[in-house]
Amino acid sequence: MRTIKVNLDKKTRSSYEIRIGKDIIDRMALIIAKNHKAERYVVITDDCVGSLYGKKFLAGLEDVGLNVNLIEFPAGEASKNISTVLDIAGKLLKSGADRETLLIALGGGVVGDVTGFIASVFMRSVPYLQIPTTLVAQVDSSIGGKTAVDLPHGKNLLGTFYQPCAVFTDLSFLETLPEKEFNNGLSEIIKYGIIDDEKMFHTMENNMEAIKSKDPKIVLNIVEACCRIKKSIVEIDEKDQGLRHILNFGHTLGHALETMSQYTITHGEGVALGMIAAARLSEKMGYLESNEAKRIEALIRDAGLHWKIPETFSADNIIAALRMDKKKKGDMVRFVLLKKIGMPFIIGSIKPEMITAVIEEMKE
Ligand code: GLY
Repeated sequence: MRTIKVNLDKKTRSSYEIRIGKDIIDRMALIIAKNHKAERYVVITDDCVGSLYGKKFLAGLEDVGLNVNLIEFPAGEASKNISTVLDIAGKLLKSGADRETLLIALGGGVVGDVTGFIASVFMRSVPYLQIPTTLVAQVDSSIGGKTAVDLPHGKNLLGTFYQPCAVFTDLSFLETLPEKEFNNGLSEIIKYGIIDDEKMFHTMENNMEAIKSKDPKIVLNIVEACCRIKKSIVEIDEKDQGLRHILNFGHTLGHALETMSQYTITHGEGVALGMIAAARLSEKMGYLESNEAKRIEALIRDAGLHWKIPETFSADNIIAALRMDKKKKGDMVRFVLLKKIGMPFIIGSIKPEMITAVIEEMKE
């Protein structure tokens, strides 16, 4: 098992460890029993992960003598709302949960975000652990304490910053991950290469086939590298006041496309499109060399991700959706652009005509 320490505020004792390995469920249970003592543990998961791993995971915790309950909710982004939160809160109360209870998020980004949100508000907060089962959650959403649910107006509009007390990343969960979900994670991995690590980007250019076939060694190295990049950024800017915005490379447009498509465009697909758009905007505005923009687009295509915006999406509607982004400042939508691969910067205003031109170029 590899261990990465996320060093946060000593006063609030919010530092924690990310453990990464393969087939570590049994060892996880022992570490939870030893390091994360609680009167009661409630595993929160979705019906999809629950049917694959719920019983096995619960049995592992019971075998080491822990008092455990399981709460499931329907899988998918459509569940990431306040009704799910209220429903789970009711079930927690019914199961006898109190402030001595520890929640365990077993699942992908939706499970992690919803569980983290509930943990931050249930009885004015209870601790929680992240056990991410998708590639997106393993390299991104399980780390850094962003919790949220969606509103009809847009994604993640209701949320908190609330750090987990540990993250356990078991790469064996990826074996049952549908290709579409794995591709979502690929998009985030490519993002890390683009914003922080040209060497990793180059490794991906040379090894996309091995990555896509889930070669254990390369996947372990890449997941670990991504977690290290994310933790370093979170350590500097836990509350998303500046540097952490670079993690949103490709996400501004990506979220708008996801919301507009009513989530038929997945997070990773939206981000892939957003990253191509950001690279093209960077090039058009004279910051990024054309060759680097082309490398970005080529890697995204090589990974089998979306690289065209659906014809039916009007540029005006996309720009209107961008204005709903919670990361906007006043009327200005913040974009992350690039000077080079590995060298991002944040820009507060881009002329809508420039965005429209890139959207039109990227239409199917
Ligand atoms: N997923 C972006 C962040 O954690 O800031």
